Amino acid sequence: MSLWIFIAYWTSTNDCNRNAAAPTNPMKAIRYCEYGSPDVVKLDHVEKPVPTDNQVLIQVRAASLNALDVYLIRDSWLGRLIFGLRKPRDTRLGRDVAGQVEAVGKNVTQCKPGDEVFGTCRGALAEYACASERSLVMKPPSVSFEQAASLPLAGLTALQGLRDGKIQPGQKVLINGATGGVGTFAVQIAKSFGAEVTAVCSTRNVDLVRSIGADHVIDYTIEDFTKSDQRYDVIFDNVCNHSFTERRRVLTPKGICVLAGMGGAGVRGSEAIKRIAGNLFTARALSSFTDQKFAQYMTKMSKQDLIMLGDLIQKGKLRPVIERTYKLSEAPEALRYLNEGHARGKVVITAN
Ligand SMILES: NC(=O)c1ccc[n+]([C@@H]2O[C@H](COP(=O)([O-])OP(=O)(O)OC[C@H]3O[C@@H](n4cnc5c(N)ncnc54)[C@H](OP(=O)(O)O)[C@@H]3O)[C@@H](O)[C@H]2O)c1
Repeated sequence: MSLWIFIAYWTSTNDCNRNAAAPTNPMKAIRYCEYGSPDVVKLDHVEKPVPTDNQVLIQVRAASLNALDVYLIRDSWLGRLIFGLRKPRDTRLGRDVAGQVEAVGKNVTQCKPGDEVFGTCRGALAEYACASERSLVMKPPSVSFEQAASLPLAGLTALQGLRDGKIQPGQKVLINGATGGVGTFAVQIAKSFGAEVTAVCSTRNVDLVRSIGADHVIDYTIEDFTKSDQRYDVIFDNVCNHSFTERRRVLTPKGICVLAGMGGAGVRGSEAIKRIAGNLFTARALSSFTDQKFAQYMTKMSKQDLIMLGDLIQKGKLRPVIERTYKLSEAPEALRYLNEGHARGKVVITAN
């Protein structure tokens, strides 16, 4: 076993070899050659990707950042086990993409050059990226590339989590961490389901959550929502900074707490992993023995859900909150900002 770990460690490598030949068909891309802080992220010239038979080559017009991009860079033993022991195997960054189709593989049937699309891929922080046709949908004409790029991971996380929570019109729903990428979508989607929404955020964001439709606001710097007499049918928890007992106290007898952010905002490395493992175990155990449920989930790519989110924007029922837009060359700065854990809505990167 230890020999295997030793071999895996020394053989894990990536394409950041300093002596490598210059790319023949270069493009600009953000990549990380080693683990660390967002300071390890660099703008580089790399080979322009070529789509496989099932892929679409996109000229990236906008991409957006997610907590996942920051987790990938971070140096943690779990990250090394999954993404490469010595160095990250895949040096690309960015999942959420919006852009124009430049070329398609021979098995692609639903996209053609010139189409404007959005969805998920590997390496969205670049001038070009390849994506599976299954991960892309058409961008509604009235939705900007920046808005479309802000949607995929955060929008799907909010939609799928609230749906797992079986949200119903008229229910009382609390969104903890209401002003980040996921939270700003969750507040609006919960409202579109007809729920009465309470948003938990810090003082500087009170006006923001009101402007996106929250019925009630709890400023967590002044008030702890788990100490109030109010009960909620659904708690959508992006932060997970309260104990299970505290959250059960404010759930209705058959209420459900959806655990979106199990690692906890601002929690790093092995502490985050301990939290996730503890949360998983306790959530399962409690949900088996009580009527109050704790649901954990992984966001799934779903074309149908993405189309629904795009339609909601087109109809004016969903407004992506884009706090900051950075150029591709400024992506390291954007990642540093997201890493602070207090972004307001989404951070978007534009191609130029
Ligand atoms: N389950 C999945 O598959 C899945 C998928 C995507 C994301 N996630 C998780 O979902 C979580 C949220 O992601 P995100 O993209 O929205 O992150 P984000 O954009 O970085 O948002 C962080 C937000 O947390 C708020 N916050 C920090 N401390 C808080 C506290 N004590 N109480 C209430 N709010 C607090 C901040 O608001 P203030 O500035 O007001 O403090 C900030 O707006 C992350 O943990 C992420 O890993 C899970």
